[in-house]
Amino acid sequence: MPLVNPHPDSLAVHAGREDLAMLGVHALPLDLSSTNPLPDLERGGESYEAMATGGHPNPEGGFVYQRLWNPTVARFESALARLEHAETSVAYASGMAAMTAAIIASTSFSGKRHIVAVRPLYGGTDHLLASGLLGVEVTFCAEHEVAAAVRADTALVVLETPANPTLDLVDIAGVVAAAGDVPVLVDNTFATPVLQNPLTLGAAMSLHSATKYIGGHGDVVGGVIACDEETATQLRQVRAVTGGLLHPLGAYLLHRGLATLPTRVRAQQAAAVEIAAWLRSHQAVEQVYFPGLDDDRGLVGKQMSGPGAMVTIALRGGYEAAARVTSSVQLFTHAVSLGGVDSLIQHPAGLTHRPVAAHAKPAANLVRLSIGLESPEDLMADLDAALSGESVPMARAADSAVQAGLSPEFA
Ligand SMILES: Cc1ncc(COP(=O)(O)O)c(C=O)c1O
Repeated sequence: MPLVNPHPDSLAVHAGREDLAMLGVHALPLDLSSTNPLPDLERGGESYEAMATGGHPNPEGGFVYQRLWNPTVARFESALARLEHAETSVAYASGMAAMTAAIIASTSFSGKRHIVAVRPLYGGTDHLLASGLLGVEVTFCAEHEVAAAVRADTALVVLETPANPTLDLVDIAGVVAAAGDVPVLVDNTFATPVLQNPLTLGAAMSLHSATKYIGGHGDVVGGVIACDEETATQLRQVRAVTGGLLHPLGAYLLHRGLATLPTRVRAQQAAAVEIAAWLRSHQAVEQVYFPGLDDDRGLVGKQMSGPGAMVTIALRGGYEAAARVTSSVQLFTHAVSLGGVDSLIQHPAGLTHRPVAAHAKPAANLVRLSIGLESPEDLMADLDAALSGESVPMARAADSAVQAGLSPEFA
């Protein structure tokens, strides 16, 4: 790309593709090799050694083995890093594989075993930290308690903003200051690199469940951490040793997703703004959670350039209302995950946040919406029918189809 300071929209389309014209190809090359021919034992061995310790392949020794290096994955990593204003990034098999690697790397390389985690967090992250599976001690706290929670043996502070599922905003620069010398990892999944770049606010790592907005089409699972080269060396070593690597086909799809990421995020966000405002005056809705609505610190506009496209609502009528609405919608799909071109609805307490400790679990009347690219009017009409109890729950529609001798697939 010849431009000195390209706009993020241009970067999203062109980053990681700089050499394609020289290679004589237009689409991203996809290298599926699980193993690679070695020039000779000496140079192959040196390359192996470099990559197994988190470094780059020796150009003369080759990539050796897919768990150590893959050029399609490396292309995606370089593109994502540019969007995040980071030196580099390291991709994984899933967002949780990325989080696991970040915890292993930060504790193992520092020799410290304590983590501070700002709640709320995605239920899987909360579960991983609370489970003790990684042998770390965790202090869960609120944003204003970070300084008091940090100890001499704290290896990492973990936060999510906007947080899943209540869309709470955390002041990244404030937590970085409160953490002192301790590195801060920000889960940037909901904001995407389009709306927020945590490294520019002092965070050490910006993590994505790339499964969500980056992929954007609900057909790939992946994770990625943007960071500096020193941190990346540790993260790559953990990946090479533990094996949580991103498949090259996943990297290809994620890289392709980057090209439309800014356009998708802006369009989905515009619809979410409209839908969140409409939901606020709906009689079936007790409260709407949406970044910017009750943002007394002005974090939208300061650390985040827009509110994003996730909306959470508290329903009048508790769990029963939530169960009815989630299975009554017809244009929204009742499914976990988020960030794709199609709108999804799900019940955090019963699904994504099911393993979270009772006192920290989201309320039973909360329903989370991921707004897609459909017409906002159609989405509101669908929600309105489900919220007002006018639409037939899908499960019942499927039951009647089965009774009529049809496969539920065709209901
Ligand atoms: C905010 C957030 N972080 C991390 C994850 C985990 O990512 P993955 O499902 O790709 O492992 C999720 C998944 O929903 C998420 O919502």
